[in-house]
Amino acid sequence: MSGKSFTFTVDDVVVEASAGQTILQACDAAGVYIPRLCYHPELEPAGHCRVCTCSVNGRFSSACTMPASPGMVVESDTPSLNADRRTIIEMLFAEGNHFCPACEKSGDCELQALGYRLGMEALPFANLWPHRDIDASHPDIVLERNRCVLCTRCVRASRLLDGKSVFGLEGRGVHLRLNVDAGCLGETALSAADKAAAVCPVGCILIKDHGYRTPYGRRRFDAEPIGADIEAKRAPRKG
Ligand code: SF4
Ligand code: SF4
Ligand code: FES
Repeated sequence: MSGKSFTFTVDDVVVEASAGQTILQACDAAGVYIPRLCYHPELEPAGHCRVCTCSVNGRFSSACTMPASPGMVVESDTPSLNADRRTIIEMLFAEGNHFCPACEKSGDCELQALGYRLGMEALPFANLWPHRDIDASHPDIVLERNRCVLCTRCVRASRLLDGKSVFGLEGRGVHLRLNVDAGCLGETALSAADKAAAVCPVGCILIKDHGYRTPYGRRRFDAEPIGADIEAKRAPRKG
């Protein structure tokens, strides 16, 4: 931890933080899990998905972008905020084409894992069933846009970590879509070793020869709910 340290509270837990940390970073280090989707620890925060929204001194803020400050009072794990998060996840399911039992990412997917953690059951919204292209032109990678949640992790990773800017967004509103900087993925400079190929939270960017290498039932979120690794850093509450 760099800089002068101070404390603030999250759901009555006292969290230590230092200048420059966001609420989410300080909570991660302290073992307090705040649900998130577009955030990735190696990337600059984007504040796109709003899943991490908390009440901060009585006002809503995204925990991944809001700097921590001394004495702030944060609420995160409340029925109301978790219901809002569940609604966001439900909307993402409804606006894409998600068929988890047939998806290579099932069990490793953060969207699916958030659905489970937040108690999602039947969708309360009508599915949009959009028509989206699959791009399998790259020898090592497939782009399955039907599952893209437009989190921009790949966009940020390609630009900031790989120095390539392969991915970008085009269009507006419901027509917003992931694009690549050439006619198709196979004509881009993307490599399977790139960070951009590894940060997708869902089954949109997939490495071709990795399919089903880890069987269903033995994947990351089959073993424990999303966030359990962060919560394991904290001693169990007494009482
Ligand atoms: S990307 Fe995730 S939520 Fe979508 S179908 Fe695959 S496992 Fe299900
Ligand atoms: S391809 Fe994956 S990482 Fe990129 S925007 Fe879509 S969901 Fe996010
Ligand atoms: S994780 Fe904070 S807005 Fe997406």
